[in-house]
Amino acid sequence: MIAYLLWLNWQLTLVFFIIAPFIAIIVTVVSKKLRALSKNVQDSMGDMTHITSELVVGNRVVKCFGGSAYEIKRFKASSLFNKQQSQKVALLTAIQNPVMQILVAFALASLLYLALIMMANETSTGGFVAYLLAAFMLPKPIQSLVQANNEIQKGIAAATDIFKTLDIAPEIDQGTVQQTAGKGVLQFDNVSFSYAGSEKLALKNIDLSINSGQTIAIVGASGSGKTTLTNLIPRFYDYSAGRILLDGVELKQYTLSCLREQIALVTQNITLFNDTVFNNIAYGILSDINEADVLKAADDAYATEFIESMAKGMQTEIGEHGIQLSGGQRQRLAIARALLKNAPLLILDEATSALDTQSERYIQKALEHVMAHRTTIVIAHRLSTIEKADVILVMDAGEIVERGSHIDLLAKNGAYAKLHTLQFSENHSTEK
Ligand SMILES: Nc1ncnc2c1ncn2[C@@H]1O[C@H](COP(=O)(O)OP(=O)(O)O)[C@@H](O)[C@H]1O
Ligand SMILES: [Mg+2]
Repeated sequence: MIAYLLWLNWQLTLVFFIIAPFIAIIVTVVSKKLRALSKNVQDSMGDMTHITSELVVGNRVVKCFGGSAYEIKRFKASSLFNKQQSQKVALLTAIQNPVMQILVAFALASLLYLALIMMANETSTGGFVAYLLAAFMLPKPIQSLVQANNEIQKGIAAATDIFKTLDIAPEIDQGTVQQTAGKGVLQFDNVSFSYAGSEKLALKNIDLSINSGQTIAIVGASGSGKTTLTNLIPRFYDYSAGRILLDGVELKQYTLSCLREQIALVTQNITLFNDTVFNNIAYGILSDINEADVLKAADDAYATEFIESMAKGMQTEIGEHGIQLSGGQRQRLAIARALLKNAPLLILDEATSALDTQSERYIQKALEHVMAHRTTIVIAHRLSTIEKADVILVMDAGEIVERGSHIDLLAKNGAYAKLHTLQFSENHSTEK
């Protein structure tokens, strides 16, 4: 196109080349600014996704440790920043267009003016019109159309996702009982449950009663329903048949927040947040914190030593999902968090599985001390850690197939005894 213009009339085209640098300068400056702003928008978008992903992955911890208010604040702050930056981007784009248009208009105007002067001599009317047409075609309307379409497509895709999420029903929270300092007496009456979209019962006719201060251990093959059983207690899922009572009151009768306040939970997949060690342990109670308690919880979970060896101690940032920590360290933080919560009901879902035998023994001692004062449900992979439990339940395919103390169950020579022999020989062969 430029070549054609030059061929038609090189003097006129020169005018274009004089104006072009001005346009180029404006475009460069604006682009730079835009890029910086866009990066901010991207980064804060990243922060938001990041927080959201933590919340999705760790939603059980957020719910159980009452972290909603804190998370809402965190999300609002990064969302506000994102909004401000996006507004700046919009402003800049909005200003950029008219300015460019004015410049182009000036260029065309001077072109016309010069053309009028020169028309008398060489350029013919036909040539002049051809030239103007070519010059006016330089902007790229087609490209803008394509761009607009792209944006619309992106928007539609994003909106579909958002609406899908909005369509998820909120948790049912119609209970009215407000008690929080319960005794931790737990009773399952013939409870059955299946996950939505699955025909198979994940739990079948569970009958169980746990007295205040007792320790119940659950063992069984993976997939036998151990985690599912504990998930029903904080009402992450609602059972489909039977009843579960806490201190004689059915779970649904409590307000969700009061129910969850009574439960401290160490989940199988440890949830940590992109925050400091301190804030991770004190998660959910950040508003009225007693520093000494946090230190004591860390101490009880045998976490103090590794925390102090880190660059900033308690104030060390542990990265996304605690990526800078080993499995054992992550478990110790999760245990510290649960100990700090000091709830009447403690649930440990394979809480010590990532620890080496040495630290497991230490933590075991600390846990025994804590368990003595509250009702505890322990899901354990290593049977050696649960021998002292008041009752051991053996689960298989959603059912409790055996129950009793360690000694009783060994004497019975059934499923538990089999598991025990299996692990014993495993340990034996690994130690050799
Ligand atoms: N969120 C879920 N949705 C559907 N099925 C699930 C879900 N979680 C677990 N299950 C199924 O429920 C059964 C019990 O799982 P789980 O309670 O996690 O076992 P365990 O903790 O004993 O290893 C398994 O068959 C598993 O596939
Ligand atoms: Mg499990």
